[in-house]
Amino acid sequence: MTFLDSGPRMRRDEFRLLRDLVNKRSGMFFDDASFFVFERRLRERAKALGVTDFSSYYQHLRFHPRGAEEIDEAIDALVTNETYFFREEYQLRAFGEDILPRLHELAVRGHRKRLVIWSAGCSTGEEVYTLAILVLRSRLFDGWDVRIFGNDISKRVLGIARRGVYPRHSFRAMPALYDEYFEPEATPGGGRRVVDRVRSLCQFGHFNLLERERASILGRVDAIFCRNVLIYFDPASRRSVIEGFYERLQPGGYLMLGHSESLLNVSTAFELAHLAADMVYRRPVAPSLLPPPPPASTGRGGGDR
Ligand SMILES: C[S@@+](CC[C@H](N)C(=O)[O-])C[C@H]1O[C@@H](n2cnc3c(N)ncnc32)[C@H](O)[C@@H]1O
Repeated sequence: MTFLDSGPRMRRDEFRLLRDLVNKRSGMFFDDASFFVFERRLRERAKALGVTDFSSYYQHLRFHPRGAEEIDEAIDALVTNETYFFREEYQLRAFGEDILPRLHELAVRGHRKRLVIWSAGCSTGEEVYTLAILVLRSRLFDGWDVRIFGNDISKRVLGIARRGVYPRHSFRAMPALYDEYFEPEATPGGGRRVVDRVRSLCQFGHFNLLERERASILGRVDAIFCRNVLIYFDPASRRSVIEGFYERLQPGGYLMLGHSESLLNVSTAFELAHLAADMVYRRPVAPSLLPPPPPASTGRGGGDR
């Protein structure tokens, strides 16, 4: 491959300008160690636009009438979209066995027959459909108004999510028990399609988690999964997104992060809920919705609800 074939090279000052632009728009932060990945991923965009250096690419993003569209393309080229069905299965088990019954109880106490779960940064949708399968299997919400909503900043991945057809490697962590929620699809790689009764619970929307007001279309939600998204954000953007989650959650609603993520140095507004198989975050319950305290004479503390 010749130098010309490989496209423009990025200078360090260009890297800093571009990564700050991407950070401001998406929350994702690329540190100096990510330089080569960042350069490689954006080189394809620069080549697609026909610009010969990254200063011109930056000028295009900032000042061209279609610059905002190209920032979205750049972000699309830079994001990590890795996801699959039943990812981090132990947490999903806790969700199915522990959290869903608690959400059911909370809704019944609040005289609601509505369940809304938000997969924030859902990528190609496997997480959304996984959650819908768990809700269906629980049978707790039959006949309720159930919505599992996924959003992402990338239109490309949402197109795949809406189609609901997946290649074999998307199922690599899925126990065979859930095969009944998929049907064969005639694709070259032997893909499978999510069945309609699962799809009918799911919706997808294109919006940026930094634009907090956009999530108001969801109303109050019972649980939020935001796994493997905020690890790529700078601390201020992470804080802002988490504040938005707090506002969106029902009191007593749950927030699930990825297994390596925590709210340490991000927020103290949530409490930790200790479940049999996991620890998750919860927006504190409004006092009127708490179950009655145990009689004072027993001397025992309250449970975890
Ligand atoms: C690694 S995937 C995580 C998918 C899924 N949550 C999981 O854990 O399997 C991260 C996703 O977050 C999305 N993302 C990154 N920044 C975002 C933002 N500001 N708003 C919405 N989505 C964003 C990316 O486009 C990508 O699809």
